[in-house]
Amino acid sequence: MSNSISSYGSADSSYRAAGGEEGLRSLCRDFYELMDILPETQKIREMHKDDLTVMIDKLTLFLSMWLGGPKTYQEKYHFVGMPAAHQHLIILEEERDAWLTCMDQALEKQPFADDFKQYLRKQFRFPAEMIYRTSRFQ
Ligand code: HEM
Repeated sequence: MSNSISSYGSADSSYRAAGGEEGLRSLCRDFYELMDILPETQKIREMHKDDLTVMIDKLTLFLSMWLGGPKTYQEKYHFVGMPAAHQHLIILEEERDAWLTCMDQALEKQPFADDFKQYLRKQFRFPAEMIYRTSRFQ
């Protein structure tokens, strides 16, 4: 059965549509490669450590869990929730939008179904907005 946009949120359908952990690792590698080179992401790149190896692993495993896959992130890293993980950072509209632009471009490079890319683009706006709002009022 082919996936329709409305079914991506159920069980592990999104995790599978992304090609599991390997598909998400490729997305996260491309995301951080783009963050290194896009002019509009230089400010958020500087917020990160020079070496992004651990960050690529954290984002991959977080997204696996978030999309209904295994909870390896929780077992391997201490999960404090997304606003708490970002509370030491100042994330205003510019930083939120730079993160989303970077993710949009990384998604473009993946062999995912077009309606799944569209679904994910929309989904990423929720945590990004939550992180931005929490940062604004801290
Ligand atoms: C809104 C714009 C965002 C900015 C500027 C941003 C920036 C950052 C930075 C700089 C770190 C590293 C913190 C450190 O090493 O001290 C980080 C960690 C992290 N971010 Fe974001 N982020 C954003 C949105 C998101 C979103 C939307 C997600 C999830 C969909 C996400 C997931 C993560 C994860 C999983 C970590 C690792 C937390 C940990 O286990 O230590 N971030 N982020």
